[in-house]
Amino acid sequence: QQGPAFDVNAMTLTRWVLAQQRSAPQATGDLTQLLNSIQTAVKAIQSAVRKAGIAKLHGISGDTNVQGEQVKKLDVLSNDLFINMLKSSFTTCLLVSEENDNVIEVETERRGKYVVCFDPLDGSSNIDCLVSVGSIFAIYKKTSTNEPSLSDVLRPGRELVAAGYALYGSATMLVLSLGVGKGVHGFMYDPSLGEFILTDPNMRIPEKGKIYSINEGYAAEWSTGLASYINEKKRPATGKAYGARYVGSMVADVHRTIKYGGIFMYPATTSAPKGKLRLLYECNPMAYIVTEAGGLATSGEQPILDLKPESIHQRAPCYLGSKKDVEELLAYLKK
Ligand code: AHG
Ligand code: MN
Ligand code: MN
Ligand code: MN
Repeated sequence: QQGPAFDVNAMTLTRWVLAQQRSAPQATGDLTQLLNSIQTAVKAIQSAVRKAGIAKLHGISGDTNVQGEQVKKLDVLSNDLFINMLKSSFTTCLLVSEENDNVIEVETERRGKYVVCFDPLDGSSNIDCLVSVGSIFAIYKKTSTNEPSLSDVLRPGRELVAAGYALYGSATMLVLSLGVGKGVHGFMYDPSLGEFILTDPNMRIPEKGKIYSINEGYAAEWSTGLASYINEKKRPATGKAYGARYVGSMVADVHRTIKYGGIFMYPATTSAPKGKLRLLYECNPMAYIVTEAGGLATSGEQPILDLKPESIHQRAPCYLGSKKDVEELLAYLKK
């Protein structure tokens, strides 16, 4: 028997977040407000991404960011959306963005207790060829009573109160975790309603996968341990070789890893000993989600979430995915 084609009682993201707030008696509603502002930014970014070719939003802005990358028009628009929506939610005091050299201090009148680190648009190099891009965010609660300062931002990922990402893929999806033990939940965007609908409650990453994901162009710069691990995936002593998939947008590569299992790697190389991905707004939030979904995320030396940041744009090697796959990699890295 077929169910009704139209859901008259849909669990929207807004409704779901409100339900979480209602079930926490001490909650003030600030996090709800904050998440609503991120939801608005994400809806606007997905709309811009979908019509970028028509609205002349493809191409470069002409600027270079603090990491020396060419900034795209959509990077700028996404960043402005995140900053404006977060500031006007009256729930944040400090913001860290990939696209801003320094920490953004929210004006006193609009301050709240949360600190948000974000990558407004991930996968910039994929924009103009219409391959999936995303947004990533990590949320801390300010614990000190002092004026907001760098020490409220330079905290290990373990201290996050929430993290999530949006994937602008063949469909748009927002994936969210509101704390350790609270699970990872996926919401698919319904463009006809303009709402995110809970489609993937309690996402769990398979214990072991069949896919490895790494930029193999830099193989000459890998450690011997990593090289022999990848070699084993291609020419296994027993069983079938792993498949290779690498989108080049972290959000897309990590989302696939969570859905299908396997391992995603952005390693340390000889020319980039800390890899490329940024700890505060790429490695940490993704590590938080993957760990909460039952996987592992490591820098090769320790869990990503235990790294103590020293600067806001600092990089870290990042290996994450299915528990068994990451454990096997770690054994190779130690050899
Ligand atoms: P961003 O577009 O936010 O600067 O991030 C790009 C990142 C990430 O999305 C991806 O995993 C990685 O760059 C790909 O780098 P390589 O091209 O070196 O593989
Ligand atoms: Mn960039
Ligand atoms: Mn990125
Ligand atoms: Mn980016």
